[in-house]
Amino acid sequence: MAARDRACAKGVAAAVPDARPGQASGTTILVVSDTGRMVSDVAAALRGRSVLCVRPRHVTPALVSSVASAIVEADLRQVADVAAAIAAYVRLDGVPTAFVADAETARILSEDPRLAARPVLVRPLSPTAIEAALASLPATVEAPLAGSVSAAILALTDAFADVAAGRPIAVAPFASASRCFVAALKMAAAADDTLATFVRDIERHHSATLRHSLSVATNAALFGLRLGLGRAELALVVEAALLHDIGKAVVPLEVLDKPGRLDAEELAAVRAHPSEGERLLRNASHPVAPEILRVVRHHHEYLDGSGYPDGLKAQGIPDIVRLMTIVDIFTALVEDRPYKTPMPHAQAVAILRSMTEAGKLDPAIVSRFIEMIEERG
Ligand SMILES: [Fe+2]
Ligand SMILES: [Fe+2]
Repeated sequence: MAARDRACAKGVAAAVPDARPGQASGTTILVVSDTGRMVSDVAAALRGRSVLCVRPRHVTPALVSSVASAIVEADLRQVADVAAAIAAYVRLDGVPTAFVADAETARILSEDPRLAARPVLVRPLSPTAIEAALASLPATVEAPLAGSVSAAILALTDAFADVAAGRPIAVAPFASASRCFVAALKMAAAADDTLATFVRDIERHHSATLRHSLSVATNAALFGLRLGLGRAELALVVEAALLHDIGKAVVPLEVLDKPGRLDAEELAAVRAHPSEGERLLRNASHPVAPEILRVVRHHHEYLDGSGYPDGLKAQGIPDIVRLMTIVDIFTALVEDRPYKTPMPHAQAVAILRSMTEAGKLDPAIVSRFIEMIEERG
């Protein structure tokens, strides 16, 4: 019998294609198998351990955050959609993972920078080698955090692809990614080193728009935590932050990244992104919360009515929008963009203060936000 065709070995949980995170515990090893079954070498190495075996499409952020480690049975020679399988492997970013693969699959995996740091064991293998690899995987507090970032990146990447292909945006992944993001950030906020690593990881992402959305989500979540928002409110804030610039998906990249001044037409295209974003989300795969739609449409409005697209004044701008506007401005000032260098935090804080004095930003929210930034140094 071909090893690939063998079912899970005795003493190991059967393949569970629709496994839910509730079935996993903190000691469970997740096996992700392209065929939904474990090959005999992995099954033998895991005999007697708590194991959950799922197909790549069932790897969810919630599942990732509930297991101790993972083994990927990767055989991309048998997979119809290689990109989808790799996207699922990337979702495991939050958990210590080893790959077990044939030589050809190992080569494909090594060429993907998102998987570059993962150990790949090339078959033929002894169960002892697999056991040794599992034992040497690091147990790290950053794991769920990295997983939540991957989930947010995937949701954003897919949303931009949906817009490019003229499909409705799939919004459901944003809600689950936001909940994981909040849970992971709560852990990270308690460990400064972890948070710094997390922020650095985001800053390394190749797309400026995605980097910006992730940074706004991080700063908004940290600020929301400080303001004492509950879990559901925090998740809503993170989801709104991830989606706030989704309208940029219809703005040409050469305009978004243009180093010099924008001409009138280019400026109009950029300034249309809030209303375009709202339009895209009103046509999304599922209804989007009204608070999120307001953030998306109005995050460039100012209390004195000088913003866009509707020139709303203070009474028309809810708190969640005021908060996002402040976080968005600060984040945009201090981040690296293709057309500008990052501004020092003190200078960005001075700009927030002067915009507040000019009547554009909410003074109470700005003052709490500056407190946080100054404490963080
Ligand atoms: Fe924006
Ligand atoms: Fe923004």
